[in-house]
Amino acid sequence: MIERILNKKSLSKSDIIELLKCNATDSQKLFEKSALVKAENVGNKVYYRGLIEFSNICEKDCYYCGIRQSNKNFKRYNLSDKDILDAARFAYRENYGSIALQSGELNHPAFTQRIEKLLKAIKALSDHKLGITISLGEQSKETYQKWLNAGADRYLLRIETSNPDLYYKIHPQNQKHNHEQRIECIQTLRELGYQTGTGIMIGLPFQSYDDLANDLIFMKNMDIDMCGMGPFIEHSDTPLYQYKNKLLSLEERFLLSLKTIAVLRLMMPDINIAAATALQAIDPKGREKAIQIGANVLIPNITPGIYRDNYNLYHNKPQTKQSDSDYKNHLEKSLADYGNTVEYGECGNSLHFKKRLNLNR
Ligand code: 5AD
Repeated sequence: MIERILNKKSLSKSDIIELLKCNATDSQKLFEKSALVKAENVGNKVYYRGLIEFSNICEKDCYYCGIRQSNKNFKRYNLSDKDILDAARFAYRENYGSIALQSGELNHPAFTQRIEKLLKAIKALSDHKLGITISLGEQSKETYQKWLNAGADRYLLRIETSNPDLYYKIHPQNQKHNHEQRIECIQTLRELGYQTGTGIMIGLPFQSYDDLANDLIFMKNMDIDMCGMGPFIEHSDTPLYQYKNKLLSLEERFLLSLKTIAVLRLMMPDINIAAATALQAIDPKGREKAIQIGANVLIPNITPGIYRDNYNLYHNKPQTKQSDSDYKNHLEKSLADYGNTVEYGECGNSLHFKKRLNLNR
């Protein structure tokens, strides 16, 4: 009886596992409940973050990722400051409310300074109205502090998996890839005052239901403000591709991702949950479906078109051939079909974050 679990105030690990494993009829009940919890807590609204993937140059070597350092089969790029600022201006003009700056992971003073300068410039060009999420990997506390001072509002650092054993199956085990350090970074971001987000990949080789339940409990215990999580999609130029025959089917990974989002919404009703782009790589309406059952943030790609093809984290990464304004109209209509309204001009801060700030006053 899934109703028994859905009516509980707090979910145990075995409840979570049961929900993640539930059959088609029960998953509809789960989705109805998570949609209701979303509507009651954060409303049927979607906040945009215009995504600028400004460079695919990366010092890391994650076994799943197409832009890992050891992959030489594609072109590296690095947008000029002008291109980045133009993209931010576009987001501001189009009332996106927020942008997300993302790149491969780099760790040196020139990079830190560049980001600092860009953050200040983006705040200035938008009259300090455009919200900024950054997703630039593991950095020192000093760097995080500098970027916060320069105007960053939110930081997304996915834990990828909360299980250290699984972490080292999908990353090299060395100084640059350290699970404990990653957790410490998330804690530091939160202590410094960022709206802090994390997330995982769903359907990784060797991942169990137990792992996924632990991941959700990890997010709850870390008291995160936002989450971005989506299906793992194999990339042929990466080491994990060798396990492609051991994976769930793409459809199963998609459904499991929706269930994971729905369960997180039940567990953390007032956080921001992003509808990850990887969902769209499996189903053209994947992000809308995630929004319908619990997510409330969408990240339209506004990276200048000529570079988009080269930010290939995984295969089938969606590319649009439409102009940006046609795409904007299309997406707005599509989200309306799934019962949600785009909140233009709103920076869309996490309600959870606002509440915990008030509590600490
Ligand atoms: N499939 C799905 N998501 C991926 N990411 C990287 N590679 C893949 C892949 N093959 C995700 C990781 C990372 C984010 C930038 O993209 O979770 O944190």
